[in-house]
Amino acid sequence: MGIVYDAFSWCDAAVFASPQYWGTITGQLKIVIDRLYAALFGHPAQKKFVVIMTARGGMYDMAMDFFSIFTRFLAWENIGNVPGAGKEEEAKALGASV
Ligand SMILES: Cc1cc2nc3c(=O)[nH]c(=O)nc-3n(C[C@H](O)[C@H](O)[C@H](O)COP(=O)(O)O)c2cc1C
Repeated sequence: MGIVYDAFSWCDAAVFASPQYWGTITGQLKIVIDRLYAALFGHPAQKKFVVIMTARGGMYDMAMDFFSIFTRFLAWENIGNVPGAGKEEEAKALGASV
């Protein structure tokens, strides 16, 4: 987690990448995001973020709602998302634009 805290102290943009589990993010990523609370909540920074999520189906509402709520607390700006499997080119194009 020390590596993650350090990266969030200087990064301009964050990429949250996760497979979809039961309609939302994995437990592993949720734990990392929960631990960011101590470092980031109450310390808004001008950061941008994108979400890359694979899933077998096509329902991303609950996962995207999670990211929009979590980042609203931090006043971060969403600059694009790539929901869905097999979208490597779309993800690369988004990465190149960041
Ligand atoms: C515990 C678990 C829960 C999952 N829940 C969902 C789900 O709610 N919706 C969905 O579309 N896919 C779900 N999946 C499928 C994964 O998102 C999928 O395996 C992952 O994106 C990787 O794709 P792949 O298996 O084709 O490599 C789930 C997988 C696991 C292991």
